[in-house]
Amino acid sequence: MKTSLSWDGEAVIAVDQRALPRDYRLLRLASVDELIDAIRSLAIRGAPAIGLAGALGVALSARWHGAMANEVTAEVTADASRLAHARPTAVNLEWGVRRALGRLHDGPDAVLTEALAMLEEDAATNRAASLRAADLVLSLTKRRPLRLLTHCNTGRLATAACGTALGAILELAERGCVAEVLVDETRPLLQGSRLTAWELGEAGVPYRICVDSAAASAMARGLVDCVLVGADRITANGDVANKIGTYGLAVAAAHHRIPFFVVAPESTWDRSLPEGSAILIEERDSAEVTHCAGTAVSPVDAGVYNPAFDVTPANLITATVSELRTVAR
Ligand code: MRU
Repeated sequence: MKTSLSWDGEAVIAVDQRALPRDYRLLRLASVDELIDAIRSLAIRGAPAIGLAGALGVALSARWHGAMANEVTAEVTADASRLAHARPTAVNLEWGVRRALGRLHDGPDAVLTEALAMLEEDAATNRAASLRAADLVLSLTKRRPLRLLTHCNTGRLATAACGTALGAILELAERGCVAEVLVDETRPLLQGSRLTAWELGEAGVPYRICVDSAAASAMARGLVDCVLVGADRITANGDVANKIGTYGLAVAAAHHRIPFFVVAPESTWDRSLPEGSAILIEERDSAEVTHCAGTAVSPVDAGVYNPAFDVTPANLITATVSELRTVAR
């Protein structure tokens, strides 16, 4: 399995997700500032991937500042805070940073060892959640092969291994159970058409891209047997923050009685928040909406509402699957 995130002994190596599918290029990120910039600009994106990048960022900082055993330096703690706040919605980022920082008292090598262990664990986590989700999908759907619908990108680019929802889709395809995947293009940054389509093509799984607003109509026309998505933060009551557009998909799926699955690691659960209304939703630059590949597609003075995520209430989700458990409605 080709990984989208690794460590070369001195720096973080990441696939530059901004350039795909046009260019496959690797970034070498040797400082915390470069890493924060990569996370903010979505060169590294997807909840698990930014959590792992955050952990590697703490390791970079600890090595840079030469933190000594039993000494927690103010500089590393400040860098950790900047990393944890690079993006607000995916709880995995805070989780990754906190876990790596927890080893600082044992020195920089211990921080790096922890971050690298997290990369390894992600592979096992992805695999377990994907198998569990694939089994569940097969037990709750009748038609074979299946027509699936997914949103955003939840594959190897969004994690350090096979992915979450896309990992389950690949597992279903491996079992010969997938006729087609409908891939929401995922406006405005096109993680579906740029990244998920690229991953499915790479894996040889049949897919078609649709504009986000075609998803409900595809369900109405009987083209979708089930929906699989990932998550950025799941609250104690099971509400799920994920890429903007997920909530609309869940409403449409419920209306058409189509099973709607969320696949996400345990690290995406935030039980400190009682419900989804407490989640801070990232609002991103207006240019993401007013421009397309650098070209203006709106009047110059257009106002813009650009939330990057929305919240799907637990009662619209058939089941939420992690590496450890299934929470069913
Ligand atoms: O803004 P992004 O591209 O980082 O948003 C990513 C998503 O919403 C994914 O669906 C989510 O992080 C799950 S990735 C396994």
